[in-house]
Amino acid sequence: MKYEGNIGIIGHPIGHSKSPVFQQVALDHHSIVEKFRAWDVSPDDLPEIMGHFKSDDFMAACVTLPHKINIIPYVDELTRTAKQVGAVNWVFKKNGNLVGHNTDCSGFIRSLKDQTGLDPQSKTVLVFGAGGACRAIIYGLKDSGAKKIIIANRTLVKAEQLVNDFSDYNTQISAIPLDKENIKNIVRDCQLIVNTTSIGMSGGPLPKDSPLYSENIPPGIVGYDIVYAPVETPFLKEVQKAGGTFGNGISMLVYQGIEGFEMATGLDAPVEKMFAAFNKV
Ligand code: ATR
Repeated sequence: MKYEGNIGIIGHPIGHSKSPVFQQVALDHHSIVEKFRAWDVSPDDLPEIMGHFKSDDFMAACVTLPHKINIIPYVDELTRTAKQVGAVNWVFKKNGNLVGHNTDCSGFIRSLKDQTGLDPQSKTVLVFGAGGACRAIIYGLKDSGAKKIIIANRTLVKAEQLVNDFSDYNTQISAIPLDKENIKNIVRDCQLIVNTTSIGMSGGPLPKDSPLYSENIPPGIVGYDIVYAPVETPFLKEVQKAGGTFGNGISMLVYQGIEGFEMATGLDAPVEKMFAAFNKV
């Protein structure tokens, strides 16, 4: 197989991706004469496209499922962020080397601030879930100076693993089971709740459920759901019912791309134009 182009997104399948549309707007805005490609790469073809990325003209690639972890052995270096998150969602070229980085974490923080106005600095946060996507959320919160993070997960041992991986002097992290009585008491001290489980996701195991209901949600809370289908999940409806402010995961998708574009080119991304293009598709 012969790959063409110097910037794009790799995934499998990739046909649904909106990245080529909103990234092209940014390239055009800066008069960069490149086409943002959608490379459909199966796991078997990963070594071949990584060879293509070694070419002199290669700029950057956004990385999506199923390659975020299995691309790691093929890059020359990982940034500290990618190392800690344990996943790569952008590859850049630096001094001839392929560098794997992660912008899901900073994309989440920008999306949270943009939609809810909340800065996690010094805050106490309850996070539901301890899966792959949760690692970027925990890193983003920690990096933004969150004071305390409580991870509630059905499988406690997975939450405890995250405590081991991320706890440090600046951010106190603890793990609890996904137990409604326990959570009811803890949530009173929290300023932010983030859902990273698939509870409430269309097509998921419990599409109509929420990890927490309005009677147990304090009125001043900020709720964020990384699930973006549906746009307003049952959890976000409960936050709204309780009188809280909420944000959904759609703009996280755009912001991870905006952060990636800015790192790949060293230029400011035309944020509004990119959102307009994303919303049009
Ligand atoms: P992702 O990589 O998108 O985070 P994942 O690794 O499968 O996906 O994680 C899904 C998260 O949703 C996990 O925290 C999972 O809990 P477990 O670690 O106990 O599996 C959570 N989850 C999925 N279905 C759930 C359910 N029916 N009830 C409670 N939690 C659920």
